[in-house]
Amino acid sequence: MNTPAVAAPPRKPRVLVLFGGRSSEHAVSCVTAAGVLQAIDRQKYDVVPVGIARNGQWSLVAADPALWSLRSDTLPEVPASPESVVMGTASGPDAAAGQELLVTAPNSVPRSLGGVDVVLPLLHGPFGEDGTLQGMLEMADIRYVGAGVLASAVGMDKHFMKVVFAGAGLDVGPYEVFTDRQWRGNAAACLERAAALGFPVFVKPARAGSSMGISRVERVEELAAAVELARTFDPKVIVEAGIVGREIEVAVLQGRGTADPRTSLPGEVAVQPGDHEWYDFEAKYVDGGAAELSCPADLPDDVTARVRTLAGQAFDAVGAEGLSRVDFFYTPSGELLINEINTLPGFTPISMYPQMWAKSGLGYTDLIDELIGLALSRNTGLR
Ligand SMILES: Nc1ncnc2c1ncn2[C@@H]1O[C@H](COP(=O)(O)OP(=O)(O)O)[C@@H](O)[C@H]1O
Ligand SMILES: [Mg+2]
Repeated sequence: MNTPAVAAPPRKPRVLVLFGGRSSEHAVSCVTAAGVLQAIDRQKYDVVPVGIARNGQWSLVAADPALWSLRSDTLPEVPASPESVVMGTASGPDAAAGQELLVTAPNSVPRSLGGVDVVLPLLHGPFGEDGTLQGMLEMADIRYVGAGVLASAVGMDKHFMKVVFAGAGLDVGPYEVFTDRQWRGNAAACLERAAALGFPVFVKPARAGSSMGISRVERVEELAAAVELARTFDPKVIVEAGIVGREIEVAVLQGRGTADPRTSLPGEVAVQPGDHEWYDFEAKYVDGGAAELSCPADLPDDVTARVRTLAGQAFDAVGAEGLSRVDFFYTPSGELLINEINTLPGFTPISMYPQMWAKSGLGYTDLIDELIGLALSRNTGLR
């Protein structure tokens, strides 16, 4: 009789949970990390928390979720550290993992943290959600959760995003773009283009998030100041015609293998009238009661089906992978205009993306597991 060979227990996949970062959404990213560090299945994964300070330095940080939560008095922040985490080519037992993490400090020998199987980037905004980090990970041959370089870059840029969506046959609202050169060269011509959209308009940094730098402008005299504010976040500015409609969002999750992307039940964000006129930063993060998130959104069945189909099309239009949240305006005349795709959407347990999956039958811990599984099963490089 053959005795079965006793295999060594497989090593748990090592997940580098990466958060903080150089963008204006640093604190939001920390709050997301608090949620993920709390929920991730540690029986299944070996978790390495790495924070990116505002100056871009990577360091090993404490895994205690409480450190990264939102407290009423302070926003969480990754501190600067005397030690940095860097990636290097692995040798020894971790050689198969390709890359190992090293902790370095001035005047000391680098210490190895071992290999990394997959990176879970919980970063929002530039240098995290925009393809730059994704490019760095591709160069190092490290698997990671979420969209690749191009989809991340397109999803970060409210201008090119619209170009791609329109090219895929999705409906986008009227807009104008001011590049840095155009604004500095002839601001008056830019303002004229914006005013032709009619009022109100929304003036936005082209590549930001969390509503930062966005103004709702009702009068032509207020336009230039709103553009200057947006330009403190990004030299490229987009001005959009104000859309009257309900804000409907759908969570999209890549299908397994060759399956189509999966879409959640749609959710709705309703800002309480009076307090905030639109879904601004305060309504999103500070004033807890200001925005009501409901899922499933109260929509006729055919509209639910249509918005889910459009969300899947938007995901494929930009070539997204892993996860994305796709946001629409549902107008009184029944149109579904796409507002944006977020390739690394808010991901705290109470954020829309996880909530919509929870309402659709996939809980937070399982969602994290699914995303890591999708990332582990794909290659780096062209796919
Ligand atoms: N064109 C628009 N018409 C009406 N409301 C808008 C428009 N653009 C943005 N808003 C409001 O501003 C919020 C933030 O804008 P959005 O483009 O989604 O930026 P962010 O990427 O920061 O979330 C939206 O959720 C919505 O409430
Ligand atoms: Mg948005």
